[in-house]
Amino acid sequence: MTATDSAPSAPGDGSGSGSTSAEQELQQGFDHTIARDQRIEPRDWMPEGYRRTLIRQIAQHAHSEIIGMQPEGDWITRAPSLRRKAILFAKVQDEAGHGLYLYSAAETLGADRADLTQRLIEGRQKYSSIFNYPTLTFADVGVIGWFVDGAAICNQVPLCRSSYGPYARAMVRVCKEESFHQRQGYELLMTMMRGTAAQREMVQDAVDRWWWPSLMMFGPPDGDSPNSAASMAWKIKRHTNDELRQKFVDMTVPQAERLGVTLPDPALRWNEERGRHDFGTPDWTELQRVISGDGPCNSERIARRRAAHEEGAWVREAASAYAAKQAARAAEAAVAAEGAAA
Ligand SMILES: [Fe+2]
Ligand SMILES: [Fe+2]
Repeated sequence: MTATDSAPSAPGDGSGSGSTSAEQELQQGFDHTIARDQRIEPRDWMPEGYRRTLIRQIAQHAHSEIIGMQPEGDWITRAPSLRRKAILFAKVQDEAGHGLYLYSAAETLGADRADLTQRLIEGRQKYSSIFNYPTLTFADVGVIGWFVDGAAICNQVPLCRSSYGPYARAMVRVCKEESFHQRQGYELLMTMMRGTAAQREMVQDAVDRWWWPSLMMFGPPDGDSPNSAASMAWKIKRHTNDELRQKFVDMTVPQAERLGVTLPDPALRWNEERGRHDFGTPDWTELQRVISGDGPCNSERIARRRAAHEEGAWVREAASAYAAKQAARAAEAAVAAEGAAA
């Protein structure tokens, strides 16, 4: 299959034969870049569908990083030691940084960050379903690092080869940080498992609550994932939801054994023939419910994001006023220098 017949983008319907052939040429150039596994950069021509799909995916990813600060941020003031507080602080700050790189990547496609934030707080753009679950104990911090950041690694490592340059490059650094997040979570859990019986129970309880929502993070099954095919053909995405979910399960099972916890799935077993684990089916109606806004913490998460945005209005105003003043001074200086030179 060539890129030309696999790419779902139709050549534009430019009026007149001249513009149609010009557009076809641009489309061919784009298709060849994709077929050769080279990168599309911000100044390159790209089909409108590609641009829209990327903006949607990158914005959703950015929103997830920012909203994802909340469930764990809740535990910063209650961390059990200075060391745990410092680690958690660093991790939550990293997530803010991930959000910022991603909003910047979306801006290279012509999106406006203020508009994306508005869409998030008005519920017109989504973020990962996983962040709509509550963090009930400190073990949840460990399990989020292990499962949620682990799932993020499965998702994001292939995105380092995504066809859009700024997105792929942002992912390289993000993945390095996600790997620290996963390790700190696992190490926290290992420490708790070496502690008291009550601590071990807390870990098992957190594992029981987060396992299925973590599997849902990869999105609906491939058959019900309408945007997947286009994203795969454009090499924005490199693996399907089900492939990534399988990879996550295979990676996590031996880690659970070493930790000494049980993953809450009676159907989970090694399949010799496939060389992979078989596992049960997540509750897709729950995923639908959470995505459509009816999860345990959806309204709380959005309300908090909205409040932070409103409370930060004076910072944005001050920064814009300062930038305008600097620009005016620079313009004045340029005019003065021109006058002096004349
Ligand atoms: Fe992140
Ligand atoms: Fe992370």
